[in-house]
This record gives sequence, C-alpha cells and structure tokens, in this order.
Amino acid sequence: MIKRILITGGAGFIGSHVVRLFVTKYPEYQIINLDALTYAGNLENLKDVEKFNNYFFERVNILDADAIANVFDKHSITDVIHLAAESHVDRSILSPLDFVYTNIIGTVNLLNVAKTKWANNLSNHTFYHVSTDEVYGALGDTGFFTETTSYQPNSPYSASKASSDHFVRAYAETYHLQTKISNCSNNYGPNHFPEKLIPLFINNIIAKKPLPVYGDGKYTRDWLFVKDHSVAIDTVFHKGAINETYNIGGFNEWKNIDLVKLLCKLMDEKLGRQTGESEQLITYVKDRPGHDRRYAIDATKINTELGWKPSVTFEEGLSLTIDWYLQNTEWLQHVTSGSYQNYYNEMYANR
Ligand code: NAD
Ligand code: DAU
Repeated sequence: MIKRILITGGAGFIGSHVVRLFVTKYPEYQIINLDALTYAGNLENLKDVEKFNNYFFERVNILDADAIANVFDKHSITDVIHLAAESHVDRSILSPLDFVYTNIIGTVNLLNVAKTKWANNLSNHTFYHVSTDEVYGALGDTGFFTETTSYQPNSPYSASKASSDHFVRAYAETYHLQTKISNCSNNYGPNHFPEKLIPLFINNIIAKKPLPVYGDGKYTRDWLFVKDHSVAIDTVFHKGAINETYNIGGFNEWKNIDLVKLLCKLMDEKLGRQTGESEQLITYVKDRPGHDRRYAIDATKINTELGWKPSVTFEEGLSLTIDWYLQNTEWLQHVTSGSYQNYYNEMYANR
C-alpha cells in the first residue's frame, strides 16, 4: 500500500525538517503537511520542497475535527506523524489554556478521526505521536530518564504533553489503534524560532542585546541536533514496534551557562569580534517558575533495538546552526518583525 502520511506541525521547527526528510527520501510516499500556521509555523521553512510532486499543504487547525476529517478523506491518509503543538514552556506559564486546547484537545481530535477513518483495517495504519522528555519532570545531579520513568510534569506545557501521551496510550488500549510515541530531549538547529534559548541568544548576540540567563544558569539540558531527531523519527516510524515508546536524546548534557559561553565564543570568532566581547552581554534574570533543574535521556533502547544514534557532535551542530542563522538573516528578520517584538517586551519586561 502506498503511504500517504499526514505530518502535523510540518511548518514548525522540527516538523519542517521531518517533512523535508520524508519528501526527499521517500518519493513514492505522499506527504501531507497539516498546519494552522500559528506564530511558530512558517512555510518559508519548506521553500525548497514546496514544488515536489509528493508534497501537499493543508492549512488546518487541529481544534477543527471536521476539517481534519476532510483532509483524511481528500488524501486517503494512511498514517499520522503528529508534531503540531504549542511548544514553548514560558508561553505555557502565561497562557496554559492554549496548551490544553492544542496539545490535548487537538491530539484527541486527531485520534478520533484516525480511529473512525481507519476502523475497517486498523492494523494497516500507524498513529505516531512526537513527545518530549519534559513529561518525566526534573532530575537531580545524577540519573537518566528511561522509557519506564514515571511521569511527573511540572509546567503547563509538559502537563499538556503528558496528557496527550496518555490519550495516545489509551486509544491503543481501548480502541486498538496502532500507535508509537517518542520522547525527545532539547533540539537545536536551523529554523528554530528565536523564543527558545539557542536561537534567541544567537539573535541577541548578532544585535548586541542582553542574554537573559534564568536563575543561576546551572540548569542542565541534553541537546540534540534537529536533523538527528528527524532521522530518529524516520527510524521509529519505519522500524519501531507497535504501541512502544522510545526515548531520543543526544548523550549531550550542558549547563545553560556553559552552553551560552560556548555560543558566545563561537559567535565572536565567526563575527570577527574580540574574544570575550559577547560574554559581556550575559545578564542573570529572574528564574522561570517551576524551572526543571536537569533533563538527561537514556537513549539505549532506540540505539540497541533500532540502531539509531546521533550523527554530529554538539560543537559541529552548533557551528552549523550559527552559520545557518548568519546566512539566513532574511528568515530571522521575517520571524522577528511584528508581533515578535510585543512578545519579547512582555516576556522579559519583569525579569
Ligand atoms: P514549533 O512550535 O516550532 O512548531 C509547532 C508547529 O505546530 C507550528 O508550525 C504551528 O503552526 C503548528 N501548530 C500549533 N498549533 C496548531 C494547531 N492548533 N493546529 C495545527 N497546527 C498547529 O514546535 P517544535 O519545537 O517544532 O516541536 C514540534 C513537536 O515536537 C511538538 O509536539 C513538541 O512538543 C515536540 N518536541 C519538541 C522539542 C524541542 O526541543 N523543540 C523536543 C522534544 C519534543
Ligand atoms: O526537553 C525538550 C523540550 O525542550 C521541548 O519539549 C520544548 O518544546 C522545548 O521548548 C525545550 O524546552 P526548554 O524549556 O528546555 O527550552 P528553552 O529553550 O525554553 O530553555 C532551555 C533552557 O534555557 C531552560 O533551562 C531555560 C533557559 N532559558 C531559556 C530562555 C528562553 C534561559 O536561561 N533564558 C531564556 O531566555
């Protein structure tokens, strides 16, 4: 059977890399990108593949179940890779309900349509839900998240993602929908919206603006290059077992302040600035409420069972990422004009 895969959130950061990978690697598949084009969705991310014969775009909000059903009918969707979400923790602290709507209700809408449309041959179809390591909560100085770590979400964002994971599991158990879930650590790379740490700081270093480090700066994240995450999603989609969960991570832990100093050093070199110049922009600001201290993924399962591992080192990936932002100033200007300025002023005004 020819695969006609619905990729939700394909105009966003990770989604656009997944769409590009599938469109170019699998010309025999049809790839349908479903996205509402919120502030985080940008079709400029996909300019290079928009004319491919096997690529289709549908502007649909996943809160609209009828519109999703129409897309299933129009394209005879065989599988779903679900990435559409509200994804920024700080925004979830300001407006939790947006996260409830899109991440929970939107996911349940998709599950309902898939269950209904595939009812006659459930075993021919897969619903793959892309999730986050944040559902596991926070680690202390040691230890890793495994697939059996209990859920303990601490932010409205992670609570909404945890809830959506539970719904996916429940639809597998109750309705025998064939599902897969992956929980990934922090991604970085080209096309990352400059509200998240790395692209925000790259943008601010270029503009010589303050670098707002939350709290003591010793919070730790496990960073993975976005193209490696996309390959992991391809691997889980094609080789992962039905109704299984896979953790995806970079084996690459960094304290925020160390990462920021590395970023400053690399950018000073690339911009021809004096060593230490950008570090002077570092400004410690009020902490994020409920800030998770440390994330670290144990990716042994996907490595040993499916053979996936990251392909680039952090230094390589970060260097590629900075180069991309320096070469794509137009992209950066487009996404930081207009409402971005209001967001930035509101988010950082009281820190
Ligand atoms: P993003 O914010 O860059 O993109 C989200 C996309 O979803 C955008 O294109 C947006 O327009 C679309 N969208 C939002 N609400 C929608 C709605 N109601 N209907 C239809 N489309 C809608 O997010 P991202 O960083 O690319 O993350 C993608 C997925 O991966 C999310 O599910 C996120 O939870 C998960 N994830 C992200 C990371 C990370 O580090 N960024 C890590 C692990 C997991
Ligand atoms: O772990 C996976 C998650 O990673 C994904 O599920 C989320 O969608 C994604 O946004 C990301 O969440 P984080 O909260 O870890 O990412 P963020 O880039 O917002 O922050 C990374 C760290 O940097 C975190 O400890 C907070 C800190 N930070 C962030 C910003 C935006 C700062 O110190 N200053 C800032 O201005």
